[in-house]
Amino acid sequence: MSLEGFRSHLGATAPDVPCDAEILRGDSSPLSSPLRLGTMVIGNRWAVQPMEGWDGAADGNPSDLTLRRWRNFGESGAKLIWGGEAVAVSPDGRANPNQLLVAPHTLKGLEKLRRALLEAHQERFGSTEDLLEGLQLTHSGRFSQPHKKNRSEPRVAFRHPLLDGRTGVARDEQVLTDGEVAGLIENFVVAARHAHELGFRFVDIKHCHGYLLHEFLGAHTRPGRYGGSFENRTRVLREIVAGVRREAPGLEVGVRVSIFDFVPFRPDPSASSGARLGPGVPEDFSGALPYRYGFGVDESDPRRHDLTEGRQFLKLLAELGIRLVNLSAGSPYYNPHMQRPALYPPSDGYDPPEDPLLGVARQLRVVRELKAEFRDLILVGSAVSYLQDYLPHVAQALVRDGWMDVVGIGRMVLAYWDLPADVLEKGELQRKRLCRTFSDCTTAPRNGLVSGCYPLDRHYASLPEAAKLKEVKRAVGRKP
Ligand SMILES: Cc1cc2nc3c(=O)[nH]c(=O)nc-3n(C[C@H](O)[C@H](O)[C@H](O)COP(=O)(O)O)c2cc1C
Ligand code: SF4
Repeated sequence: MSLEGFRSHLGATAPDVPCDAEILRGDSSPLSSPLRLGTMVIGNRWAVQPMEGWDGAADGNPSDLTLRRWRNFGESGAKLIWGGEAVAVSPDGRANPNQLLVAPHTLKGLEKLRRALLEAHQERFGSTEDLLEGLQLTHSGRFSQPHKKNRSEPRVAFRHPLLDGRTGVARDEQVLTDGEVAGLIENFVVAARHAHELGFRFVDIKHCHGYLLHEFLGAHTRPGRYGGSFENRTRVLREIVAGVRREAPGLEVGVRVSIFDFVPFRPDPSASSGARLGPGVPEDFSGALPYRYGFGVDESDPRRHDLTEGRQFLKLLAELGIRLVNLSAGSPYYNPHMQRPALYPPSDGYDPPEDPLLGVARQLRVVRELKAEFRDLILVGSAVSYLQDYLPHVAQALVRDGWMDVVGIGRMVLAYWDLPADVLEKGELQRKRLCRTFSDCTTAPRNGLVSGCYPLDRHYASLPEAAKLKEVKRAVGRKP
């Protein structure tokens, strides 16, 4: 699609989203302008979003593939490395048996990972002074699969009428007790202290995508000190932050949050046939009203979002002295079309229920609205990879017009990791390397394979997993 074609489609679909007519280079680009965070400087307005590879060693250490990915992050040209990837704070909280883990026996490995990132950046750009790198800390909660791929061992904040069946939650014992929550908090604090000792400049206390701390934000129905009121539902965060301040003074804290959500979606059964998935439709929520099972969802109609508590949450972050905030939405497990808009769904997803551009615009508008109110926060926006050829044209306009401070890129980095450098240095793109939202990087891990950009990153085409992925895609009726 030509730039004119794209702008006209954007004008018809999301007319408020700005898109420049050309890519600006060097100092003339709004994306090149540095940003201050206390005494630290973030050298430009690009962030690499966290992305797991499902490719660590069984003991939670990074593998060669993990190191390669972090080197690519270092070569990207982005000056904010938001967390690298989700790293579990305890073995039971791993989303897969190959997720990285913070533990005494992985510290050397994590240090190596950070060094690989910094060295690659230093070699390519001559300095790491204005690079801000963090580690994303997580517990996968409902989506934990610590021992075996595709064997769920969920731990949850509350019983969920629409998700329990999908995620293997059948007993109240799978809900964390308040005593277990105290252990969880301690695990986050210890992991943050380790990250600080390893030299990471911030930790992200991950609150997004349906994982455990995100689930706590929506624990309206949970009794006791960690559920019910907004104050109770944010207690885990407040206790973690207090612990980090105590144990790792000087370490910056960031939060990535799914600031809004919808009810879970599923493929429309009436439009699905055989392996062919129909378009996504909301689960029947009629028996779950008022909908008190999420964060940032409209209780009376959970097909809509509600930012009332999102605002309260950002206010709380500011009060806690947290300025680094990364806004995402929903979950890749239960409403992937809003979390990572794509033309082609992952194997466990559904056909797009809307123009993916609407999904991008939804997230952008929310960041814009919140940025206008929370001027002192550094807000990173998400979900822009679907913009493909015109990602830079939109990104520079978003920053110039004050929609967000930093543009975060996820899938695009797996396909074309040095796009930010090309934009700022050359003002042009290598079109063959652009992410086309094929979703193989999500389909692969859903089927127990390492994640990466199989279609466009030649390194993955040569792995044995590439042949297995083709089989998986054939089985679900997709072009291999
Ligand atoms: C393979 C893959 C792994 C991901 N892993 C993480 C993760 O570990 N932590 C996280 O917060 N988000 C994760 N995400 C979500 C991305 O950070 C990002 O929000 C999402 O891909 C939408 O941005 P994009 O349109 O630029 O891809 C992952 C996404 C993909 C595709
Ligand atoms: S597999 Fe590659 S092209 Fe497909 S969505 Fe992932 S990064 Fe993009």
